[in-house]
Parts: sequence; structure tokens; C-alpha cells
Amino acid sequence: KLCHGEDIPEWFAFPEVIEELNRTLPPRSKQGITLFFTGLSGSGKSTLANGVMVKLRELGGRHVSLLDGDVVRKNLSSELSFSKEHRDLNILRIGYVASEISKNGGIAICAPIAPYATTRRSVRSMIEEVGVFVEIHVATPIEVCEGRDRKGLYAMARAGKIKGFTGIDDPYDVPENPEMRIDTSQYTMTDAVEQVIERLREMKLIA
Ligand code: PPS
Repeated sequence: KLCHGEDIPEWFAFPEVIEELNRTLPPRSKQGITLFFTGLSGSGKSTLANGVMVKLRELGGRHVSLLDGDVVRKNLSSELSFSKEHRDLNILRIGYVASEISKNGGIAICAPIAPYATTRRSVRSMIEEVGVFVEIHVATPIEVCEGRDRKGLYAMARAGKIKGFTGIDDPYDVPENPEMRIDTSQYTMTDAVEQVIERLREMKLIA
């Protein structure tokens, strides 16, 4: 409790003010959104995220930005390694950019591996202050991801040429309560994209 004459700290807001601010938040269908795809390397995150981006742009209404894992690594996180600390920093940077996009009413689509649950939770909290967070677990089994091995990284990890590879010798915390879970090996990419769009409609985020 604040006493008379005591300075009001910067972060303090009267409950009535918070209530009023909450009342003036736009309706859910107009709020900014972050679609956060998470899954193993080769799970189909980028392809799915790209397909969803194209579909959402076709539907119109909001600006859509894609923050793909590889693209972020090249442009925003080029100095970072794959240590736990650096992966966390990478994900928090993505979260920050996504929160700016969502704060301004846009749709941010993120597609990193984001292997650690605690870091994903931090990003969720950050986004939920300004908009809607939708976690989509791209749950393609590791056998399928490894079978695809488009970049040859699983083979290198198995051979011990890459250390700390997610799913091989670095953990992936399976999301416990994602808004959606999808195994891309069970659908064509067109159907997988449609499933995501349908889920967003169910959640009343798009018309
Ligand atoms: S993370 O953990 O979220 O920061 O990873 P991310 O930025 O999404 O980068 C994943 C891509 O980097 C390649 N790569 C590795 N992945 C996992 N573990 C290790 N050690 C590693 N080294 C390089 C890999 O190609 C990932 O690409 P995707 O697109 O996910 O297949």
C-alpha cells in the first residue's frame, strides 16, 4: 500500500486505470496476433509458416510478417551459436520483434525450433500483454525429420560432427498445452495450411 507523500513508482497504475485500458482493447478479431510455430529441424515449420502467411495475406485485413528461423539467424542473430544461452537470446529477440508487430495490430508468424519450454513461456507472456499468442507445435516425429534430412545435419549430428543438435544430443521440450498440434507427415501441405487457418477461425481470430 502506498502512503501519503510517498512517490508513486513508475510501474504503478491504479486498478481503475487498468480496468479502463482492458475495456478499450480492440475486440479479439482485431487484436494483433503472434503465430508461434515450434518443432524439430526438418519438421516442416518453415513450409507450413510460409503457406499460412500466403493464405493470411490472401484473406487480407492485417499486415503479416514472417520471422523464419533461418532468416532470423542470418539477419538478427548471426553472431549466436546453438548453446542454451544463445538459443534463448535468439528466441527472446524473435519474441520482442513479434510483440512489436502484434502491438501494432499485425500478425507475426515465427518459425524457430524454440526447444525450451521456459523460453517459449516468456515469449507467450510478452505477447499476451499486447495481443494474442497462438503456439503451434509442428509435431512431426523425429524419424520422419531425420528421414528427410534435407540439410544433411542429422547425419552429421549422428556422426558426432555437430554437437548439441536438437533431438539428438540436445533436448526439445514437447509443448504441453499448445493451441494447436500438427504432424506434417499426416497431411499434404495444402491441407496442413488449411488446418491452421481453420483453427484460427475456431478461435475467432480471423473471419
Ligand atoms: S533455435 O534453437 O530456436 O535457436 O534454432 P533456430 O534459430 O530455429 O535454428 C534452427 C536451424 O539451425 C540449423 N542448426 C541447428 N538446429 C538445431 N541444433 C543445432 N545444433 C543446429 N545447428 C544448426 C538447422 O538447420 C535448423 O534449421 P530448421 O529450419 O529448423 O531445420
